[in-house]
Amino acid sequence: MALRVATTKLGSKLLPMLSSSSLLHSHATSFGGLSFSQICCFAVLEIVAGFKEVREEEKRQLVGNVFSSVASSYDLMNDLMSGGLHRLWKDRLVSMLNPFPGMKHLDVAGGTGDVAFRILETVNSIKRRALQDVLLDELQEETRIYICDINPNMLNVGKERALERGLAGDKSLVWVEGDAEALCFEDRTMDGYTIAFGIRNVTHIEKALAEAYRVLKRGGRFLCLELSHVEIPVFKELYDYYSFSVIPAMGELVAGDRSSYQYLVESIRRFPPQEKFASMIADAGFQKVEYENLVGGVVAIHSGLKI
Ligand SMILES: C[S@@+](CC[C@H](N)C(=O)[O-])C[C@H]1O[C@@H](n2cnc3c(N)ncnc32)[C@H](O)[C@@H]1O
Repeated sequence: MALRVATTKLGSKLLPMLSSSSLLHSHATSFGGLSFSQICCFAVLEIVAGFKEVREEEKRQLVGNVFSSVASSYDLMNDLMSGGLHRLWKDRLVSMLNPFPGMKHLDVAGGTGDVAFRILETVNSIKRRALQDVLLDELQEETRIYICDINPNMLNVGKERALERGLAGDKSLVWVEGDAEALCFEDRTMDGYTIAFGIRNVTHIEKALAEAYRVLKRGGRFLCLELSHVEIPVFKELYDYYSFSVIPAMGELVAGDRSSYQYLVESIRRFPPQEKFASMIADAGFQKVEYENLVGGVVAIHSGLKI
């Protein structure tokens, strides 16, 4: 409650300064009608080592500990601090994926199931539209969405949510504990690969990209949703202020954990800028590499094709 009041107050002061749609949106996607507090309160539970130099093993352990400790409050916090905006970003990610019945899909760092549920819902809606198409029924039977996450606590959050949604027995959803850098899937077995707010947490991004490339079939699509870099003057300054001053304070207020949120904002700044990350994806072998900024680059969706 206190958080909502604080963000609303902040939003009402700063909104007039940010009312230009060009300031808030870039490239193809627009989220018209969002308040400044929603825009500022971007998805916020991605917590990794930031400006502090953390050795590789320590980073791995740190990320593990952080997600274990936040797992139980993850959904609530994410919604609270993003003002629900992360849902729109994930919707966009899945619409770009273009899921289809029978597909084999891998969602990495997908512990909450947020992306997987959307994919399944899209596949089911295609089937519903086709009504009694026997072929589609058979294809649907073969749909597999693998949710892979290194942290069993985060996977448990996803499994509980599946239970709440009546999807616990759905054999399309397969929960797998595993590391993005060393996937336990065969070469060329997946039609699609997604990773949402996860790649920043892996120790070696190049290894995760190489693994994504390895498991995708030819024609398979790689999609990555990640907090990224804002370059628009004024908005960048406000965003920096929000990130470094407001978010850690929110973390303390809401989750009683200031330092994790400090890591969060620092890690966003350490993550490669959009162009650099696009070139890393291309270096992994992907073609037709593109990215789309949302909310002026607060987040970006990168994509690539394995041809
Ligand atoms: C911020 S959460 C994102 C969860 C979900 N994709 C979403 O958008 O709600 C980041 C997730 O990355 C997972 N993760 C971190 N390092 C990983 C790795 N090396 N391999 C697989 N998952 C990892 C964490 O356990 C955590 O569940």
